[in-house]
Amino acid sequence: MNKKIIVLSGSPRKKDGYRIIKQIENLMSNKGKVEFDYLHTNELHIKDCIGCMQCFDKGEGCCPLRDDIQKLVDRLMSCDGIILHSPVYAQHITGSMKKTIDRMSYMFHRPALIAKPAITIITTDGGGIKPTQDYLKLVGRGFGCCLLGELSIISPHYYNESSFYNPKYYKKANQSIQRLADKLYSSIHGNNKPIPSYQDLYMFYGLRSKTYFFKSDYEYWKSKGWLKSSYYYDVELSFFKKSFGRLLNGLIKLMIKKHMRNT
Ligand SMILES: Cc1cc2nc3c(=O)[nH]c(=O)nc-3n(C[C@H](O)[C@H](O)[C@H](O)COP(=O)(O)O)c2cc1C
Repeated sequence: MNKKIIVLSGSPRKKDGYRIIKQIENLMSNKGKVEFDYLHTNELHIKDCIGCMQCFDKGEGCCPLRDDIQKLVDRLMSCDGIILHSPVYAQHITGSMKKTIDRMSYMFHRPALIAKPAITIITTDGGGIKPTQDYLKLVGRGFGCCLLGELSIISPHYYNESSFYNPKYYKKANQSIQRLADKLYSSIHGNNKPIPSYQDLYMFYGLRSKTYFFKSDYEYWKSKGWLKSSYYYDVELSFFKKSFGRLLNGLIKLMIKKHMRNT
């Protein structure tokens, strides 16, 4: 069966980022069969969150909005890999991308994309690289994805129709594109669950702390067997990572005890 990649792009146009991702698609297709599904957030039927908190308190099924958000989540859950892309708009991701992520906020409590291979791509005229890239990575990690790598493209340096075109930059960026395509291809065809990084562990323990405050989170994490585990899945952690996890767990428990005493 073909492996499927979902591209969730915050760009309203098929231009700079789209061309980069098409390149990745071509590089991966040269190695074997892959199917790319391009979803532009401005074209999706997704309403603005109204802030009712039902998804946090009772579960996402209680969201009063009727639109395509759950279809999107189902597609993300059933694909083999994810590319998150946004151009930088006003120093950050685009509004339609943020609106879409807002509607999936409950996945920061109840991650549903565990170990899904993902890469993050931003396109920019040069500004906003760090906040935009950092945010996309935070979203990917928060939702449970395994982040394979990131790419930030300064479009005027990369595309030769621009007067700022820089052949050295183009060459280096293409090497990164090739590396990312290779990584994504191997990851979607491999069977090994990735070893979590320190940041992944930090996110795991941080998100688990929410189970003390939200019943639906507690039930979800309990049903997954994550309340006492060292990560989302069985994986051999190094001594240092195990110790890091134990330390975090201990600190979080202390903080929560203190909070409970004060409320
Ligand atoms: C409304 C708007 C706001 C933008 N804001 C920024 C910005 O803050 N910083 C920047 O470097 N580029 C900014 N850009 C430029 C885009 O990030 C850049 O053209 C990018 O390559 C577009 O990628 P895309 O074709 O994949 O959408 C902005 C573009 C638009 C249309």
